[in-house]
Amino acid sequence: MDLFHLGNAMFENFETNAVRIQTPKTAQNEHSTPLFMTSSFLFDDAEHARAIFAEEVQGNMYSRFSNPNTTELIEKLAEMEKTEDGVPFASGMAAVFNSMFALVKSGDHILASRSIFGSTHSIFTQIFPRFNIGHTYADIGNQKEWEDGVNPNTKLVFIETPSNPALDIIDLNWISNFCKERKLILIVDNCFCTPYIQRPAEWGADLVVHSGTKFLDGQGRVIAGAVLGRKDLIKEIRFIARATGPSLSPMNAWIISKSLETLSIRMERHSQNALKLAEYLEKHPQIELVKYPFLPSHPQYTLAKKQMKLGGGIVTFVVKGGLKRGAKFLDALKWFSLTANLGDSRTTATHPASTTHAKLTEDERLAVGIKPGLIRISVGLEHIDDIITEIEQALEASK
Ligand SMILES: Cc1ncc(COP(=O)(O)O)c(C=O)c1O
Repeated sequence: MDLFHLGNAMFENFETNAVRIQTPKTAQNEHSTPLFMTSSFLFDDAEHARAIFAEEVQGNMYSRFSNPNTTELIEKLAEMEKTEDGVPFASGMAAVFNSMFALVKSGDHILASRSIFGSTHSIFTQIFPRFNIGHTYADIGNQKEWEDGVNPNTKLVFIETPSNPALDIIDLNWISNFCKERKLILIVDNCFCTPYIQRPAEWGADLVVHSGTKFLDGQGRVIAGAVLGRKDLIKEIRFIARATGPSLSPMNAWIISKSLETLSIRMERHSQNALKLAEYLEKHPQIELVKYPFLPSHPQYTLAKKQMKLGGGIVTFVVKGGLKRGAKFLDALKWFSLTANLGDSRTTATHPASTTHAKLTEDERLAVGIKPGLIRISVGLEHIDDIITEIEQALEASK
């Protein structure tokens, strides 16, 4: 790590690093990392100030640049993702945007998977064109589209796997070889999996982006993001982030770093509940279609098993009866939270076509597998019997 290597706890095992990577203790001898709510840091003297600004010595100077809480979070995430370095961001979208913006210039082109989050789609279609940065979408299953999508000015490839909400899976080994052969930078949004389930850098990705808002926090409290990856690329991203200021607050970094201590056990339970729910839905006569990476009926089941440790916490399905029935089903839910977020300890239900992916046209949605009646469930940590009972009663009530 360029700036502050904590170096105090690098273990073989994911779970131990998640708990033990921690900012060095202060003179107060605290056990748990304190919250460093300070906008700036003191210099010892004029020479120290000069040397820090000149980057001749390491040290905090201003929380837009670094802070012990954000450094702890990044050290931990970089170790979990098996990457060299990282930059914290105020939101997942700030991370997505800056991971690309910091590495392209006017005239460059980006190749991306068609099935991506709605706001990422807005960056490609409405924001990057203002800077003369073009894009092409390719379908996961269509190798020719990827090959034809590369232009002489293509700089990077951006993918989501599994995608939100279609749960399409891209072969990380294949795409990283594809990028390496063409000298393209590969960026993977790993938000649905978290590093406990999937580590794209181990398959060859150059950068991994996260919305910390989702499973990393896991309790629906904060908005946060991070980019992890190759040191040389992170240096560029850090430069842009420091100068333009999409900084993560120490408070939010502290919350997420604490949450990461329990990430492994939470992802185990999310995935266990989600698989049971998907198996239940698949047998239900009122359900037209269910998608879950670890259901054998998922079109990329074998691939999912190869690159993901577990199936994750998201299940999508379509209730028989189309959009109208889907809306009735959502209204019949008694205690699932109707909300746009996912990755919470509470089970949440979302209708992507009218919310998270409303900015796409109907055709664009259908092209990425978002049927009008598609429902996305982020399966929480409640008892699976209660989760199934809630779905059962909503299916009955919406008939
Ligand atoms: C796959 C994916 N990437 C990025 C984001 C953006 O994250 P944030 O809401 O923290 O900006 C989201 C949010 O839903 C997402 O689902």
